[in-house]
Amino acid sequence: MLRPQRFETEVDPGPIQIQARKVHFDVADVPLHWIPRHPVASNMISLLNIVLPSAERWFVATYNEALPLGKDPKLAEDMRGFIGQEATHADVHDKVLHEFMFTHGVDPTPILDQIEYAFEKILSPSDSSDPKTRLNNLCDRLWLIAAIEHYTAVLGDFSLNCAWDDYGADPTMVDTFFQRGVSYLSKNDPEARLTWWRTQRLRMRDSKLDLLPKYRKLFGSNTLMYFKPSFSPEEMGSTAQAVAYLAISPAARTAHL
Ligand SMILES: [Fe+2]
Repeated sequence: MLRPQRFETEVDPGPIQIQARKVHFDVADVPLHWIPRHPVASNMISLLNIVLPSAERWFVATYNEALPLGKDPKLAEDMRGFIGQEATHADVHDKVLHEFMFTHGVDPTPILDQIEYAFEKILSPSDSSDPKTRLNNLCDRLWLIAAIEHYTAVLGDFSLNCAWDDYGADPTMVDTFFQRGVSYLSKNDPEARLTWWRTQRLRMRDSKLDLLPKYRKLFGSNTLMYFKPSFSPEEMGSTAQAVAYLAISPAARTAHL
């Protein structure tokens, strides 16, 4: 399986231009359990197609809000690249959601409703009249995006003006939400109908087989890292890793720029 890896010695590729790649996935003949005999691993990864269209459109809106506040023209160029990239990702995930999940009889409406609530109510911009409160609210959202997307450039420019008060809370909410999504998909899977216990058992088996990250790591040690004041998302991923993966990804290699 192709997977992005980190290496002992990584060569920093230097500044790179972020480009929106129009990747195409033909899912017409792909079975719901696209990892054969592993419904939980298949569902857990497919869940991204339900979560990401709203999440990535929220990234775009947040970056558009932050764009006029940045001072550095190179950073502004990076932000525009990121906005284009995330808008394209959202469209591709949305297409897969409709052509793959809905087509296979999965009804993700309750998850979509929760996502809408999270982004429109909990993670919405502050309407306070105090500019400092509004900036802190924006910083908090930018931090969450950096944590999810491993993209830190924007934080450098904003961090001096930010009060990092509740930066650990949002990733914890994302984790809880993600686990609920996996349970819902397994329980309502038209081809499997798995109970919560069976889902956990299969999920542990799939983690042992390296088909999924271990929950202990994903929702334990990796989440705890977010609470460390010195945390940088680069501790989890790197530009070198991303560039190396793009060079071998069949979808990225055939994508239209
Ligand atoms: Fe994305």
